[in-house]
Amino acid sequence: MVVSGVAATAPPIPPPFTSLDVERIRADFPILSETVRGGRRLVYLDNAATSQKPRQVIEAISRFYSGENANIHRGLHYLSERATAAYDAAREKVARFLGAGAPSEIVFTRGTTEAINLVAQSWGRSSLRPGDEVLATGMEHHANLVPWQVVCEQTGATFRAVPITDRGELDLEAFDRLLSDRTRLFAVGHVSNALGTVNPVRDLAARARARGALVLVDGAQSAPHMAVDVSELGCDFFACSGHKLFGPTGIGVLYGRQSILDAMPPWQTGGDMIERVTLERSTWAAPPARFEAGTPPIAEVMGLGAAIDYVESVGLDAIGQWESDLLSRATELVGALPGVRLVGTARAKAAMLSFVLDGVHPHDVGTVLDDEGIAVRAGHHCAQPVMQRFGLPATVRASFAFYNTPDEIEALVRGVERARKVFG
Ligand code: ALA
Repeated sequence: MVVSGVAATAPPIPPPFTSLDVERIRADFPILSETVRGGRRLVYLDNAATSQKPRQVIEAISRFYSGENANIHRGLHYLSERATAAYDAAREKVARFLGAGAPSEIVFTRGTTEAINLVAQSWGRSSLRPGDEVLATGMEHHANLVPWQVVCEQTGATFRAVPITDRGELDLEAFDRLLSDRTRLFAVGHVSNALGTVNPVRDLAARARARGALVLVDGAQSAPHMAVDVSELGCDFFACSGHKLFGPTGIGVLYGRQSILDAMPPWQTGGDMIERVTLERSTWAAPPARFEAGTPPIAEVMGLGAAIDYVESVGLDAIGQWESDLLSRATELVGALPGVRLVGTARAKAAMLSFVLDGVHPHDVGTVLDDEGIAVRAGHHCAQPVMQRFGLPATVRASFAFYNTPDEIEALVRGVERARKVFG
């Protein structure tokens, strides 16, 4: 449902905020003290696109290049042994962070997109046949749609998508109708990047697996904001990105259930993924090495490890509570502005607000906000089917992280009011 904003008649009573030492946290993020657009204080509300990095992450990467840089799994020398040990330790950390059964279930990739393409091109291309179906949803990011469309075209399998309701939730009756013994894989976003909807992944995974389907969860938008335990979710694959998790770009993670990874062929080949190579034929290393051909993003893995340490030091429960308070306040204040329509009003939502302002193109709203130093995303958010579902070309999206403050929400409100005055 697209909810119409109503004029606020009285200033809303702000809900109480939980305690989180946000000023101390902000001091760890150098970029948050930058000014932009001629001296404006930066208000960074584009965390769903990429989040900012604490100095602990920046320093971990710098430390690696300044004193530890070497290739892994190749040299017998001191630095290579050290880099290899640190790389392997980071994999163990990720495995624990995501609740995987073993580090060998964690494959490092360039990001969520590459992780999903890996599954589509390795498992999908070798397993799917005509008559098989891949079921996704109408609220997926393109990264969890297009790889499945492509592999279905390549194999003759059929691609289907669960529709979404007016609130921006999955239509669960349709899900049950679409799920069948033909469904080989169900691909679902944990949190929609365009609507903020938190999907009931555990329940959906149980239903899909009961029909014999594998389940892949796109966790790009959930891992930075809530505790994830893949064994509790009951999924077979889980993908997420370092750069949304306060770590560097160029690093992501694919969790895969061990027995499934073991049976999957490589999708990229080269160094470090082989068991033995002769001029006649080659055999493959066991996972995860089988899926990490070539020199991996070693410094980025160090940065990701530091990011996980940082997030855990703040605490995912505290993060979730703070962001939930931010979302409540933003929904209340932005939703009450004249002409604002919230897009995506699911009962379970992560801390982001997608909206349109009547008569003003989202890009113009974004430009006015940017003039004020407020960074949001305006566009289709790489989720064009969501825009088609709501009959919109684009929305404005403000997405929050644990370093955002109530003051920044008030700045957003003033910015949207200004956009209405300028363009409305
Ligand atoms: N997937 C990122 C976003 O939603 C880039 O903005």
